[in-house]
Amino acid sequence: MNDAVLYFHLILAIFLWIALAANKVRPWRAATTSAAALLVLTGAFNFMTRMKGAPAGWHALIGIKILLALHAIAMIFLIARGTAGPEKEARWRKGALGSATLAALIGLYYSNIAR
Ligand code: HEM
Repeated sequence: MNDAVLYFHLILAIFLWIALAANKVRPWRAATTSAAALLVLTGAFNFMTRMKGAPAGWHALIGIKILLALHAIAMIFLIARGTAGPEKEARWRKGALGSATLAALIGLYYSNIAR
């Protein structure tokens, strides 16, 4: 069950990253906002289940990962709402892509390398 949720989290993360990179957050609004909400739920689950026996530095870096992820998710909701001008939206998209990339790298490191 725990591994299944982690894999689901990974699939959602890859989908959102592709949507951001391909500039499809607004056209795919229903899917991107649902994926963002599910990432928060599955992420909270991962946080509770993977805290036990966590390697050194886990809490500090996962805390930073969660803040980066929440930044990306907030930007996705704002882009999906579609009230920003093109310049502002492009800035939000780049910021979200940067935060999502870092959040994914920290998650991948702790899931696959550090333990
Ligand atoms: C843009 C949003 C997010 C992205 C791109 C993202 C990406 C990832 C990726 C790629 C992994 C590794 C999965 C694997 O190896 O199978 C991961 C793990 C994880 N994520 Fe996320 N995530 C996001 C949001 C969140 C949120 C909101 C939380 C917490 C509320 C969270 C908490 C975690 C935790 C605890 C792990 C497991 C770390 C470990 O194995 O020790 N993530 N994430």
